[in-house]
Formats: sequence, C-alpha cells, structure tokens
Amino acid sequence: MKRIHLDFDKRAYDICIAQDFALLADEVKKLNASKILIITDSNVSKLYLKEVYDILKGVCTTVASAQFAAGEMSKNLATIQRLYEACVQNGLDRKSVIVALGGGVVGDMAGFVAASFMRGIRFVQIPTTLLAQTDSSVGGKVGVDFAGYKNIIGAFKQPALVYINAQTLKSLPPREFAAGMGEVIKYGIIRDAAFLDYLKANAQRIGSFATDEIETVLEKCCRIKADVVEQDETEGGLRAILNFGHTVGHAIESAKDFSLLHGECVGLGMICALSIAQERGWVSQADVEKVRELLAIYDIKTQVDGLSVDTVADFMMKDKKVENGVLKFVLAEPMGNAKIVTDVTKQELSDAIKAVLV
Ligand SMILES: NC(=O)c1ccc[n+]([C@@H]2O[C@H](COP(=O)([O-])OP(=O)(O)OC[C@H]3O[C@@H](n4cnc5c(N)ncnc54)[C@H](O)[C@@H]3O)[C@@H](O)[C@H]2O)c1
Repeated sequence: MKRIHLDFDKRAYDICIAQDFALLADEVKKLNASKILIITDSNVSKLYLKEVYDILKGVCTTVASAQFAAGEMSKNLATIQRLYEACVQNGLDRKSVIVALGGGVVGDMAGFVAASFMRGIRFVQIPTTLLAQTDSSVGGKVGVDFAGYKNIIGAFKQPALVYINAQTLKSLPPREFAAGMGEVIKYGIIRDAAFLDYLKANAQRIGSFATDEIETVLEKCCRIKADVVEQDETEGGLRAILNFGHTVGHAIESAKDFSLLHGECVGLGMICALSIAQERGWVSQADVEKVRELLAIYDIKTQVDGLSVDTVADFMMKDKKVENGVLKFVLAEPMGNAKIVTDVTKQELSDAIKAVLV
C-alpha cells in the first residue's frame, strides 16, 4: 500500500492507495469513532456496501448506512436533508464518523453533511471512480448544486482519511473511466510534462488496471493535488491551476445540459486552453497534438457538436471563475507548467472555442 501524508496541522490526514480493502479496518480504527454512518449511492451500494459494512463492523459497534439514487441529479439540498435525517435517526454524535463510499457526487455530499452536521464531524473518503480517486476525494472541497449552478453551496472540509481501493475501478463503466482520464491528463499539463509520456507509453496497462501502472497514476495525481492544496487550501491563488480546462469545460457542461460527463468537458476545455497558449507561442503545435493524441488513446472526444461560440461564451461569463467581470483563465507555459491569466481577449476565446466545435 502507498501512503501520502497531507499536512494541515491538526487536520493532517493520509491518502492510502491499496489494491483491496484489507487494511481499511486498521486505518479507520485509528479514528476511534463512536458511530459510523456509511453514505453511498444506489450503484455503489450493490457493489461494495456489504464488504465495507462488514469490515467497519469489526472496528465500531454501531455502523449504519444511507443511500440515494446515483447521479448528479441527486446532488442537491433535498438529498442533504434526507442524509441529515439519517444522521439524527442513527444518533450520530460529535465523535461519529461519516464514510463516503462512491464517486465524486457521494464524496461531495457526504463531505458537506460532515462539514455541517453538529458544526462539523469527521469523515472518511472511500472513492470508487477514477475522478474521485485522483481529484475530488483529495483537497476538501465539498458541496451541492443549487438553482442550476454546480457546487454553488459548499464548504472546505478536509477528510480524516482517504482510502483508495484501486480495484474498484474494474467495475466502473468504461465511459466513466475515460472521463476520469481527462483529469489525469490535466495533471501532466499543469505540473509534469513527462507524466504525459508515461500515460502514452503505458496506456494499455493503465486501461487494463495493471497494479503497478494504475498505482503510479493514482499516486502521481494525488501527490500533485495534495501539494497544491497544502500550499493553498481555500483557493486564494495557486489552487486555481487545478481548474485548467474547466473554464470552457464547465460552460460546455452547462450548455450541453449535463449530457456530457465532467471529465469529457474538461478534455474539451483543455484543448481550448492549449490552443490559446499555442497562439501565444507558449506551447508548441507538437505539444497540443500530443495531448489530442493522448485524449484519443483514452477515448475522450476532442470535438463537440450542437453548440455555438456565443452559447459557450455566455455560459462562461456566469461561471464562479468570473470575478467583477474579469475571467480568470489557466493556460500552460510551457507544457507541464500552469499559468493563471486574466487577459484572454474575446477573439482568443472565440478562436479557442471554435477549435472544439463541429
Ligand atoms: N470536490 C472536488 O474537488 C471535486 C472535483 C471534481 C469533481 N467533483 C464533483 O464530482 C462529481 C463527479 O464525480 P464522479 O465522476 O465520480 O461521478 P459520480 O459520483 O456520479 O459517479 C459516476 C457513476 O459511477 C457510478 N460508480 C461509482 N463508482 C463505481 C464503481 N466502482 N463501479 C461502478 N460504478 C460506479 C456511480 O454510481 C455513478 O453512476 C461532480 O458532482 C463534480 O462536481 C468534485
């Protein structure tokens, strides 16, 4: 098992990267929980709830579970209310621990319940999608969608433990795995260009969940994210580099009425950001081609239909990344190094969006 330690003083925690749930009991035991509530969704509960429940029963006398219908549509305050009810019905107290078993939707919502129930109790992330194992379970952003806006209500709440069983990826639908690879490729562009070569050279073994290669990918992504959030927990500056590809990506996600997956839209947004960087001479055409090729290898589309430049641009201006009318954009200069800018022109933006429209 690999272990990454995140240092937030009293809120320090470990990310454990394992190939099974064998060491989960030992890790959770350290938290000395009075009661445990496992929160999961309707898909993940069928696959992993019994195994995780039985393991945690060996650690804590009172273990309960609550679940909701899988999918982004459940990520709202109505579901949160039902989860608060489960906390009350199961008598959770300040020493209790919430366990988030599932993808980013479960992690964001269970984390929000943990951040607010009794003004904050501890929670454990057991992420089961590639996106959650490489991104959303690390770093402490939790929350829900509201009034048509994604993640607009939320909090910063670091977990007490992240326990990754990489083998849970084997049951993930291929499209979900591919979407997660969008975020994985992002880490190479913003922090480590050589990682992109690794992803290309080992695509076959990564795609077949070979132990060493999948662990390398998970560890690399978690280390980069951990390093960034340790330096800037609440997105005062540096953390914004993690939004590479998200400025246009989120706009496409909204414009397509959430019919595309988050990671798929990030893939498209990355192409847009790179085409602006290429026009500025910050990355080469070969760099951009390399990313396009990598996205194709991992089955991520680099073009989207049914949208106009104006529609995408309008959605962008409604994004949280717009402050006082100024759009914050993350570009690359050079490949492997993110650069935050606020001077992207309308023409640059329009040309970049055109680069992914068919
Ligand atoms: N907090 C953060 O920093 C952060 C970062 C990125 C994304 N997010 C959020 O994460 C969410 C997306 O997360 P996601 O892509 O994991 O989506 P998700 O949680 O909806 O999971 C995707 C689908 O896969 C299913 N699933 C999960 N694990 C499985 C497994 N092992 N086998 C089979 N099926 C499985 C789920 O039931 C669901 O149907 C969005 O709401 C996004 O806003 C948060």
